[in-house]
Amino acid sequence: MVIPDLRRARASLHGTFGLVPTMGALHEGHLSLVRRARAECDSVGVSIFVNPAQFGTGEDLDRYPRDLDRDLMALQALGVDLVWAPPPQVVYPRAFQTWVTVEEVTGGLEGERRPGHFRGVATVVAKLFNVFTPDRAYFGQKDAQQVTVIRRMAQDLDFPVEIVVCPTVRAPDGIALSSRNSYLSPREREAATVLFRALSAARTGYEGGQRDASALRAAMKAILDTEPLAHAEYISASDPETLSELDRVDDGVLLSLAVRIGGTRLIDNFLIQGKPGTD
Ligand code: PAJ
Repeated sequence: MVIPDLRRARASLHGTFGLVPTMGALHEGHLSLVRRARAECDSVGVSIFVNPAQFGTGEDLDRYPRDLDRDLMALQALGVDLVWAPPPQVVYPRAFQTWVTVEEVTGGLEGERRPGHFRGVATVVAKLFNVFTPDRAYFGQKDAQQVTVIRRMAQDLDFPVEIVVCPTVRAPDGIALSSRNSYLSPREREAATVLFRALSAARTGYEGGQRDASALRAAMKAILDTEPLAHAEYISASDPETLSELDRVDDGVLLSLAVRIGGTRLIDNFLIQGKPGTD
């Protein structure tokens, strides 16, 4: 569907409209966002677009899982009103040259290790907000920095959209559901539980009163070091708002990890909220 057709289809929908942006290969994590949108909005749209602009050279754009027929069936079963799965040239025509760059909050974590990634994310999400004009847009806590970047972008560019963040959906052994889990061998899949175990160890430390952020990072590292297949890219205890590394935890902390298991790069995080009522 080209953009004018999408705008027409969107205009024909009534009431509040919720948008769930995705790259497809839908799993229960994505579907939890769709269910929440379905429960909260009169009409729901889902975009399925493996956005080339957010993949760096040497990343997994070519092998990223795609299964449009299965995705469409799952979305139909949930009563989604509008699905948009455009080809790349509809989103990025040949002459395309306008980009959205969010600055400080992309400086660390994923933004630091994946140069250009959030420029691609912010640009495609800005385009989706423009054409879908959603009242609410649904994102997963799984991608914590993405949420921060999109909130900033929506506020800075005056998009009248409420950003709704949904909890991370996990497998029974704690692994955060991710399309990239399909790359893991059975042995690697088992090793990948180390991210959840490391985050849990740091949370236990926090709950036991530990407020030294470097001790929380050390607690995660100690668990990651027990898994020979795991190679950490970063181990972070950051301020949930600014995403800068903390020395001390006074008012909430985002514990986050990027870890390579074999050839697969996985991320996960726990957001520990500050005490309610403290400013
Ligand atoms: P994708 O990785 O397909 O994820 C789509 C949405 O599903 C994101 O908001 C993501 O955080 C959420 N999600 C993924 N796994 C989840 C899980 N286990 N539990 C809860 N939510 C989960 O994120 C993207 O696509 C892209 O960057 C996009 C925003 C679509 C822009 O291209």
